[in-house]
Amino acid sequence: MKIAIASDHGGVNLKRHILKFLAEQNYHFYDFGTFSDESVDYPDFAELAAEAVAKGDYDLGIICCGTGIGVSIAANKVPGIRAALCHDTFSARMSREHNDANILALGERVVGPGLAVDIVAAFLQAEHAGGRHARRVAKIKAIEEKYAKQG
Ligand code: RB5
Repeated sequence: MKIAIASDHGGVNLKRHILKFLAEQNYHFYDFGTFSDESVDYPDFAELAAEAVAKGDYDLGIICCGTGIGVSIAANKVPGIRAALCHDTFSARMSREHNDANILALGERVVGPGLAVDIVAAFLQAEHAGGRHARRVAKIKAIEEKYAKQG
C-alpha cells in the first residue's frame, strides 16, 4: 500500500509523528510537504496529496493542518477524493468501511500524537465493506459527476 502524506505548518509536527509510525510499520509513503514551521497555505499541500491519490499513484492519503478542517475541505474539491476528518478511531474505521474514504484528515491542535497514530492505524487497517455501502458511495460519485458536467 502506498500512502501520500502532506500538511501545512500547523500540522507539520503531527505529520512528523505519523511519518515515524509509517516508517516503523514499513508502509510505503511519500511526503508532499510542507517541511518546516514556516507559514504556508494549507490548500496547496492538501491539493498535492489529493491529486496523487485521485490519479491512482497512491492508494490512500493522510493530511494534517491545525484543525484538519482546511485540508479536508480542500482535498474534497479534487474529483474522486473522499477525505474524512476523524479525531477518534471509530470514525476512522467507519470512514473506510462505510464511506470508502481515501484520505484521512487530522488536526494537530485537536489530537495528541498518540491518539493520532491510533487513528491512522485504524484507518489504514480497515477496508471498504462494499454491499449497500458501495451503492451509497456510487451516489456520492454521481453527485460529483452531475456538478462536473454543469461546470
Ligand atoms: C493555520 O494557522 C491554520 O489555519 C491551518 O493549519 C488549519 O487549521 C486550517 O484549517
